[in-house]
Amino acid sequence: MSDDAFERVLAYVESEMGFATSHYNDSYLDRRVTSRMRRTDTPSYEAYLELLREDPDEREALLGALSINVTGFFRNPDVWAGIREVMRDLSAANESVHVWSAACADGREPYSLSMLAHDDPEIDETSVHVLATDISEPALETARSGVYEESRTVDLRDQLAFLDDPERYVERDDRRYHVSRAVRRNVTFERHDLINDEPRAGFDLVICRNLFIYIDADYKRSMLDTISQSLLPGGYLVIGKAETIPPETGSEFEIHDSRLRIYRRDPDARRRRR
Ligand SMILES: C[S@@+](CC[C@H](N)C(=O)[O-])C[C@H]1O[C@@H](n2cnc3c(N)ncnc32)[C@H](O)[C@@H]1O
Repeated sequence: MSDDAFERVLAYVESEMGFATSHYNDSYLDRRVTSRMRRTDTPSYEAYLELLREDPDEREALLGALSINVTGFFRNPDVWAGIREVMRDLSAANESVHVWSAACADGREPYSLSMLAHDDPEIDETSVHVLATDISEPALETARSGVYEESRTVDLRDQLAFLDDPERYVERDDRRYHVSRAVRRNVTFERHDLINDEPRAGFDLVICRNLFIYIDADYKRSMLDTISQSLLPGGYLVIGKAETIPPETGSEFEIHDSRLRIYRRDPDARRRRR
């Protein structure tokens, strides 16, 4: 009975609120819905569906809860130490290095990459081109502005501690951090939906972290296909530390560093033109 009502909540969210619940796994959706039910003191899925129908504010609050936009500068610093090594190798071997930060949220991931390139003497920052994409326009708007606000829950100074001298890359005015023009120059933002849009081409490295965990297994496969077609043979892929590549797609990738979840596309795979 209540499973049925949960399905009806999801159907309503998909058809009336325009959020593609079918792309996400049920346990993730259930966690978000039940957290809104607790907040609104709603005893059952049936009652919550009624609330959604009646209350536009609750529809908005649920959409906010469903958009998974948690991110940060240099999230998981140990992974960034691994990315630094990959970037050094790519920079040494290529005149230009093309990186795709896919599902980049508010831009702190691609800016971390650009900061790293500027900071590390073994990476030629003038050769680094970062494409940063996300499905969410509001996230991209913040990303393009390059302005981030410190709050009770967001400690930007701590996030930037990966760098010896973060002040070279951000200007601080009170609680706001402005990413420098030089760092922003290496990054281009575009909207891209990893499930429905076409692959890109010609990337040496794709960073796609902390999206797969929310995605239903079928869509996860098609996202990985999109990424693998976008990578050059021998190109690198970094996924989130809590994520895995399903075995059936695993054959396209070999493990470069299993702990840090860094993979390489099969060097003998066919090259796709940019
Ligand atoms: C948890 S954030 C990850 C941000 C960053 N990669 C990180 O690890 O810090 C997940 C992002 O995936 C985006 N997203 C959700 N569905 C997507 C899709 N189908 N295609 C592209 N991005 C998507 C969300 O808008 C959100 O910004």
